[in-house]
Amino acid sequence: MQEWNPKSWRSKVALQQPIYNDLEVLNRIQDKLSKYPPLVFAGEARSLKAHLAKVSRGEAFLLQGGDCAESFADFNAVRIRDLFKIILQMAVVLTYAGACPIVKVGRLAGQFAKPRSSDTETLNGITLPSYRGDIINGIEFSAKAREANPNRILQAYHQSAATLNLIRAFAQGGLADLNQVQKWNLDFVNNAQSERFCEMADKITQALAFMEACGITAKNTPTLHETEFFTSHEALLLNYEEALTRKDHLTGDWYDCSAHMLWIGERTRNLDGAHLEFLRGVRNPLGVKIGPNATKDDILGICEILNPSNEAGRLNFIVRMGASTILDRLPKLLESIKSEGKEIVWSIDPMHGNTIKASSGYKTRSFDSILSEVKAFFEIHKSVGTYAGGVHLEMTGEDVTECVGGMQAITEENLGCNYNTQCDPRLNASQAIELSFLIADVLKQRCI
Ligand code: PEP
Ligand code: CO
Repeated sequence: MQEWNPKSWRSKVALQQPIYNDLEVLNRIQDKLSKYPPLVFAGEARSLKAHLAKVSRGEAFLLQGGDCAESFADFNAVRIRDLFKIILQMAVVLTYAGACPIVKVGRLAGQFAKPRSSDTETLNGITLPSYRGDIINGIEFSAKAREANPNRILQAYHQSAATLNLIRAFAQGGLADLNQVQKWNLDFVNNAQSERFCEMADKITQALAFMEACGITAKNTPTLHETEFFTSHEALLLNYEEALTRKDHLTGDWYDCSAHMLWIGERTRNLDGAHLEFLRGVRNPLGVKIGPNATKDDILGICEILNPSNEAGRLNFIVRMGASTILDRLPKLLESIKSEGKEIVWSIDPMHGNTIKASSGYKTRSFDSILSEVKAFFEIHKSVGTYAGGVHLEMTGEDVTECVGGMQAITEENLGCNYNTQCDPRLNASQAIELSFLIADVLKQRCI
């Protein structure tokens, strides 16, 4: 293999990249960004890797979630706070009801670039470049908006920095204190889910009062007062990732400091491609999406390139096969690589294999298919003797109507009420909590 450097991906074919008309502007912007402060510190990425190593041994569970795509227009504190709160709520449900430590990773502070199935979109006889995420072009259907604009790279960086700043404040400044658990419930989630959550929160509050009487308080036990929260996004736009890649002065290793964890999508995970080439050289924990057609050779090839020293916690395969396909494909795949002794964190993305088009034209996903793929994932791991290590979800803390089903019984006819996503349909706050209670039931069985 050739020697790696942050630019070595440039000699490979990079799929799903925009075409920039003005390369001079692009280079100037990339140069500027390469001098800006990193967004995360390498030590934090190492800490996440250590947590993920526990996940690979079945000692913890990974909860990864957030928007399909973050948006420049919808950038505000309430959205960030509500997503943070819903992830905390889900984590506390999984920890308490599932009796398992949870590693929390947001799909945020950098989740701006989207792979697309077609390079162009045609509307009323007009064909324009597809929308590729706010870091690349605008979602409006006009020639000007759809042109790839390098200045957007800097805006994405600044939005990521501000988002991360608020997340760090929430995680360490008191909002995540377990004594506040009652306040994590979002005002608009006012149904059976919130009742169930409040009942659990009451029990936690009672347990905390007992612990305080025994001398264990938020003051002397930091884990009761603050939480660790990590960031992640798809490492798709390699100009952005390259510019934020820095050598860690403590270890001399390279880290992509745009996020703690980066993943490669189903469409860009080809073994000879630029995305694997870029990510093999950074020491962050990495994810790779695995669709229904993934083969044993794909998995072993990816392990060889991204994790040649077979380090635990380095590599997460994110399975997204679809509820109707997973039972047919995943058992054989897992069996075929089990004997190879590879250190792998397995998680399930029950969103991307279950996207359908409603008769009204909206893209949607049914809560039942999502749950059914998660359950199948757990059953398959149990029968093969491997660990179902986590879930990867597209979700929001907002009261949107994008996925059908769940206790709220959102129907295809209701989808238009508050359909707000930049790209794929997300679970809303109520559906996310409902799903976490159901996952907790399965997780508890795994842990005992
Ligand atoms: C995504 O996670 O938003 C995505 C595009 O996933 P995949 O690569 O699995 O299609
Ligand atoms: Co998506």
